[in-house]
Amino acid sequence: MTTPRKLFIKTYGCQMNVYDSERMAEALGAAGYVVTDTAETADMILLNTCHIREKAAEKVYSELGRLKGLKAANPDLKIGVAGCVAQAEGEEILRRQPLVDLVVGPQSYHRLPELEARARAGGRALDTDFPEEDKFDRLGGRPKAQRGPTAFLTVQEGCDKFCAFCVVPYTRGAEVSRPAARVLDEARDLVARGVREITLLGQNVNAYHGEGQDGAWGLARLIRELARIEGLDRIRYTTSHPNDMEDDLIAAHGDCRELMPYLHLPVQSGSDRILKAMNRKHSAEQYLALIARIRAARPDILISGDFIVGFPGETEADFEATMALVRAVGYGQCYSFKYSPRPGTPAAEREGQVPEDVKSDRLARLQALLDAQQQAAQQAMVGRVVGVLFEKPGRMQGQVVGKSDHLQAVHVEAGEDWLGRIAPVEILAAAPNSLAGRLAAG
Ligand code: 5AD
Ligand code: SF4
Repeated sequence: MTTPRKLFIKTYGCQMNVYDSERMAEALGAAGYVVTDTAETADMILLNTCHIREKAAEKVYSELGRLKGLKAANPDLKIGVAGCVAQAEGEEILRRQPLVDLVVGPQSYHRLPELEARARAGGRALDTDFPEEDKFDRLGGRPKAQRGPTAFLTVQEGCDKFCAFCVVPYTRGAEVSRPAARVLDEARDLVARGVREITLLGQNVNAYHGEGQDGAWGLARLIRELARIEGLDRIRYTTSHPNDMEDDLIAAHGDCRELMPYLHLPVQSGSDRILKAMNRKHSAEQYLALIARIRAARPDILISGDFIVGFPGETEADFEATMALVRAVGYGQCYSFKYSPRPGTPAAEREGQVPEDVKSDRLARLQALLDAQQQAAQQAMVGRVVGVLFEKPGRMQGQVVGKSDHLQAVHVEAGEDWLGRIAPVEILAAAPNSLAGRLAAG
């Protein structure tokens, strides 16, 4: 028997990249690779890159520069670049960095074994097509990796929204939904291997419209069917666009027990002028009305979001409108970023680019407010009993940690026999990023 080759994957960016990396590992597993967690001993290193914000390409080039020594020590080492930087800069990467053997865009991962064989034979391979076929269903079967009780499952990819700041419609392409039967099969398979919580992924997951047995299914229908799988206890989804929060999805938050009370619903800005310039196609008031409807369906839901400060043309008054919206919503946890001009997107070329120091100042003020809201949301859990799915041993001896229904990290004193179980936990104390609790009588 030949010894398997070792594969090291470094993943940047979003959860969809985490899922893709797993699937790439499986695709290359079929070509004789096993995953290693040290780059130094690897026969193939793949960088699964992200292009969404600042200096993404530069980071990839400097990471590649650091791999020079490894390649010199092991001439058989193959180096590949995958993900959105590969998609956006494929040819340029091959030109600028001779040590790269293969470049593969996010829609072509099912072709990896073929690309790897070409690289092994001494060639250099590039594939940044947007093929017609569904990459996941061409990857040969479903995920095989050994796993804990939680998993990601990509159900939708790409985006047709064209927000003026965003590269996703260019790097991931048009919106595509996987057929419902495939998603259900993959979910059953995960559950059979011990998974109890699945997070459905998509760049715009609530725009899901996969083919079902009786016509196209929306996300709500998919969630309701998934909820019927015996042993699948928790369902989440991310990330969503406000304009795709349809009535049945809002209703599911109220009546589907498996759908967890947490929703990531980015708004980006609270100023109508900026929302329009961003091509978001809704107003701040419409977003607030939507949040009110979702909370009416599920009063204890924790809302999360994304914000961009310093979008071209943003004035102090626009920024204040964002602060006002944040105060009105009361978020549980958010991500906030300085606007970063992405080559090829409409906003990058616009007048009124905001100076760096103004962006930094606004970001600091916004983050102070968001941090205070997160603290309040953490504190509000003290004294409550929440469901927790235990995922791994804690940092301290005798502890296990997991996520609450509301996606907050919770640790309790309990043995490792609790891993993979869901139990009610009484929250005793709150820290900025975690809660301490004790097992409550079931
Ligand atoms: N600059 C800053 N933030 C961005 N995002 C997307 N594109 C940009 C950009 N050009 C943020 C948005 C999005 C999140 C995934 O990344 O807030 O929701
Ligand atoms: Fe990018 Fe999301 Fe806008 Fe699509 S909806 S363009 S992925 S920010």
